[in-house]
Amino acid sequence: MLLLFLLLLSLSAPPLAFSLNQDGLFLWQAKLQLSDPINALSNWNERDATPCSWNGVVCGNATGQVTELHLPSSQLQGSFPISLCRIPSLSVVSLPDNSIGSSLTADIANCTNLQRLNLSLNLFVGPIPETLSQIPALRYLDLSSNNFSGDIPARFGEFQKLERLMLFNNLLNGTIPSSLGNISTLKFLQLAYNPFTPSPIPSEFGNLTNLEELWLPHSNLIGSIPSNLTRLAKLQNLDLSCNKLSGSIPISIIELKSIVQIELFENSLSGELPVGMSNMTSLRRFDASTNNLTGSIPDELCSLPLESLNLFENGFDGSLPASVARSSNLYELKLFNNKLSGPLPSDLGKNSPLRSIDVSYNQFYGEIPANLCGGGALEELILLYNSFSGKIPDSLGKCQSLNRVRLRNNKLSGMVPDALWGLPHLDLLDLLDNSLSGQISSAISGANNLSVLLISNNHFSGSIPDEIGSLEKLVKFVAHHNSLTGGIPASIVKLSQLDYLDLSDNQLSGKIPGGIDALKKLNNLTLANNKLDGEIPREIGSLPALNYLDLSGNDLSGEIPLELGNLKLNLLNLSNNQLSGKIPPSFANANYIKSFMGNPGLCGDLSGLCPTHSESKNSRNLWIFPSMFILAGIVLVVGVVWFYFKYRNFKKMKKGFALSKWKSFHKLGFSEFEIVKLLNEDNVGVDQGAESMSVIAGSYGYIAPEYGYTLRVNEKSDIYSFGVVILELVTGRPPIDAEYGEKDLVKWVASILDEKGIEHVIDPTLDAMYMEEIRKVLDVGLVCTSSLPINRPSMRKLVKMLQEASPGFKAKSIKKDGVLSPYYQGSIV
Ligand SMILES: *[C@@H]1O[C@H](CO)[C@@H](O)[C@H](O)[C@H]1NC(C)=O
Ligand SMILES: *[C@@H]1O[C@H](CO)[C@@H](O)[C@H](O)[C@H]1NC(C)=O
Ligand SMILES: *[C@@H]1O[C@H](CO)[C@@H](O)[C@H](O)[C@H]1NC(C)=O
Ligand SMILES: *[C@@H]1O[C@H](CO)[C@@H](O)[C@H](O)[C@H]1NC(C)=O
Ligand SMILES: *[C@@H]1O[C@H](CO)[C@@H](O)[C@H](O)[C@H]1NC(C)=O
Ligand SMILES: *[C@@H]1O[C@H](CO)[C@@H](O)[C@H](O)[C@H]1NC(C)=O
Ligand SMILES: *[C@@H]1O[C@H](CO)[C@@H](O)[C@H](O)[C@H]1NC(C)=O
Ligand SMILES: *[C@@H]1O[C@H](CO)[C@@H](O)[C@H](O)[C@H]1NC(C)=O
Ligand SMILES: *[C@@H]1O[C@H](CO)[C@@H](O)[C@H](O)[C@H]1NC(C)=O
Ligand SMILES: *[C@@H]1O[C@H](CO)[C@@H](O)[C@H](O)[C@H]1NC(C)=O
Ligand SMILES: *[C@@H]1O[C@H](CO)[C@@H](O)[C@H](O)[C@H]1NC(C)=O
Ligand SMILES: *[C@@H]1O[C@H](CO)[C@@H](O)[C@H](O)[C@H]1NC(C)=O
Repeated sequence: MLLLFLLLLSLSAPPLAFSLNQDGLFLWQAKLQLSDPINALSNWNERDATPCSWNGVVCGNATGQVTELHLPSSQLQGSFPISLCRIPSLSVVSLPDNSIGSSLTADIANCTNLQRLNLSLNLFVGPIPETLSQIPALRYLDLSSNNFSGDIPARFGEFQKLERLMLFNNLLNGTIPSSLGNISTLKFLQLAYNPFTPSPIPSEFGNLTNLEELWLPHSNLIGSIPSNLTRLAKLQNLDLSCNKLSGSIPISIIELKSIVQIELFENSLSGELPVGMSNMTSLRRFDASTNNLTGSIPDELCSLPLESLNLFENGFDGSLPASVARSSNLYELKLFNNKLSGPLPSDLGKNSPLRSIDVSYNQFYGEIPANLCGGGALEELILLYNSFSGKIPDSLGKCQSLNRVRLRNNKLSGMVPDALWGLPHLDLLDLLDNSLSGQISSAISGANNLSVLLISNNHFSGSIPDEIGSLEKLVKFVAHHNSLTGGIPASIVKLSQLDYLDLSDNQLSGKIPGGIDALKKLNNLTLANNKLDGEIPREIGSLPALNYLDLSGNDLSGEIPLELGNLKLNLLNLSNNQLSGKIPPSFANANYIKSFMGNPGLCGDLSGLCPTHSESKNSRNLWIFPSMFILAGIVLVVGVVWFYFKYRNFKKMKKGFALSKWKSFHKLGFSEFEIVKLLNEDNVGVDQGAESMSVIAGSYGYIAPEYGYTLRVNEKSDIYSFGVVILELVTGRPPIDAEYGEKDLVKWVASILDEKGIEHVIDPTLDAMYMEEIRKVLDVGLVCTSSLPINRPSMRKLVKMLQEASPGFKAKSIKKDGVLSPYYQGSIV
């Protein structure tokens, strides 16, 4: 027991004397200075004899002295632990990706034996100490990705052995010192991503004859590329991209014997590519895109075994040298936005592992080379806006790797290879604006990753395959202006990611599929100019993301679902259909004035029935009075209908005939008046008339109060509905509106009349000249909307009242048989 106690005591007691060696003590001091939230230094134990087993510490094999300290990504915080510099043999300090910060002091030069210093990805600010250049053996200096500012010290030219100078991604804002050209040992010079004061590349860099990499993108370089850079015989990677370099590419660039990669993109270089590029035999990647280069693409460049050639967004003309197809390395060819013409080399891709080709926006013509996917690696095929013609090669259908295919705006014709539709990795298929024909293949079910399918403005025919419904990732399907027939497949409602569906200008028929509200992401639904019929599904009103709805130019019939009013639409176009009934109140404003045109059965066709606040006084008056006559006409219809409804002889009815007649007369623009006449002549159409009547009478805001307890529509409740329409006309207000609070239009009119007087009820845009008539019409509206049915006028009485209220009323123009005279016909048209 005592033994155990003594043991514990000895374990917990502080050491009587420090046994840690001197190097360890300097490291311990460093530990005390840093905060160590993840205990990266937890095994740094003060009671060890040497620190050589400590995390990150390396000691020399023979001497036991600390030579290296490596603590990357350890979340260490605090200022640079300068005590490290008192460790005499320390040659490597590597602390990248920590939170060490504030300034780096001149004392860093006390680390006299340092060969490598890596402080990248820390929080240093302020100037870079120039004393660093006094560390005689320093070979690697990496201060990248900090917030150092100010100048690169000119004295950096005094480095004796420096091989790597990484200062990229700081806030260095002076000029690049030409003295760096003095560091003849330098192999890697990376100064990119600094907000340097705009200045040219120092020509002294031409003396850096050991340089292997010069990395200067985003460095505010101006002026031209110095020709003496070409003395850099060991240079493999020259990156001057994203600067403001101008002038032409120096011809001496071809002397860069070892060069593998040249990046000159996003500058303002002009002129032609130099002659003799074939001398750069190691060149594999050349990118001079987004400059102002002109002339032709040299054959000498294309005959090199290039991996990547990017010359897009320049002014190159001429043709693409056939030699480019010989490279067995070529995986990337991007030449878009130039003035290139001629055919693509016919064996392009045959010998190459081509992954990406983009030659869009040129004047290439001829056929698409058959072997583009010869290497079996083609992912991106982008040929849009050229004049390619002929068929899409069958071989592309076998190109399993294809991901993005964009062929729009060419002159391609014939059928799309069946298998192309169904490529498993296909994400984008854009065939817009060609002359392609045939069907959308049912093989499309294999295109599990397809998100965008664009086939507009072609000659595609046949029906849309059901298999389209299996494309779970489809976001856009745009097939405008083809010759597609058949119905919209019901499976389309399974496309839960669909955002954009445009099938307009085809010959699609049948109904809009039910359950369309499953398309929760649908934003744009355009089915215009087809032969769709049936009703607009109510579910469209429950599409939460719908913003644009164009169903115009179809044969859609029935009532506009009130639910459409729930949508927040930027565009609604239901024009030129066979819709009937009442326009939902939320659309009764000027924004939607064109949305309902060309639907003769819709009250919107009689523009006045759906008040538009923006119209001028005069134009209001142009319609209001004809509208009254039309109203009177409708009332007559209702009267007649009512009569027949009560006393019809079922056996004489030819309902179907009447229905089609009603429709076709509306289509021809016949007025209600003429329909009344027809109804009288044919003794049919009663049900249809009643149906159109109750379309209005059944809409919320038009319902007579007694409907709430009788649930029956009779003549008097129809009169009530008409009363509401009249009040709408006279007040210019919708039947229901948030402004009325609990009330509807009828109650609102009553209370305003009571509280403020008639002037506050009548639509102020109506011309005061007709105030007399307007008041009379208002009275008619009021009596029609009496809450007690018994107080409402009969049909016959209503017609009479309205006619008396109209200007220029002539009693004798009403014939005994109830048909309006030609006088009224003229007013209506
Ligand atoms: C130290 O020893 C290790 C393994 O024994 C060896 O890999 C390393 O090169 C040696 N270092 C020095 C500086 O001698
Ligand atoms: C760095 O070295 C100088 C001169 O050798 C000395 O005066 C200074 O105290 C040293 N700095 C630190 C932090 O050790
Ligand atoms: C510095 O450390 C970072 C992060 O580990 C590393 O990517 C970089 O190559 C190092 N710098 C040098 C010059 O070795
Ligand atoms: C570094 O600079 C960036 C950009 O100016 C700034 O957002 C960031 O806060 C700075 N970080 C430090 C540690 O100063
Ligand atoms: C460089 O940045 C520092 C710190 O933001 C600033 O004080 C100095 O004026 C800047 N110098 C130049 C030349 O812009
Ligand atoms: C260039 O290097 C020489 C010798 O290494 C040195 O004497 C001279 O000062 C350096 N020049 C500059 C501008 O740093
Ligand atoms: C670079 O070339 C220019 C003119 O072409 C010359 O004036 C300059 O001395 C050269 N610089 C070096 C370092 O060779
Ligand atoms: C460049 O190198 C040449 C010879 O190698 C030398 O004469 C010249 O002084 C050097 N220029 C600079 C600026 O160091
Ligand atoms: C190319 O030159 C034109 C006019 O010469 C100029 O407007 C344009 O900005 C230049 N483009 C680039 C990328 O330098
Ligand atoms: C290209 O290289 C050949 C052979 O190495 C050489 O003879 C020729 O002078 C070089 N051309 C240029 C313009 O440097
Ligand atoms: C599907 O496309 C996504 C990007 O849209 C891509 O990340 C993924 O790898 C593709 N999957 C297949 C099987 O091609
Ligand atoms: C909706 O689709 C139509 C037809 O493709 C198009 O004209 C319109 O710009 C699209 N609207 C929106 C907001 O995307």
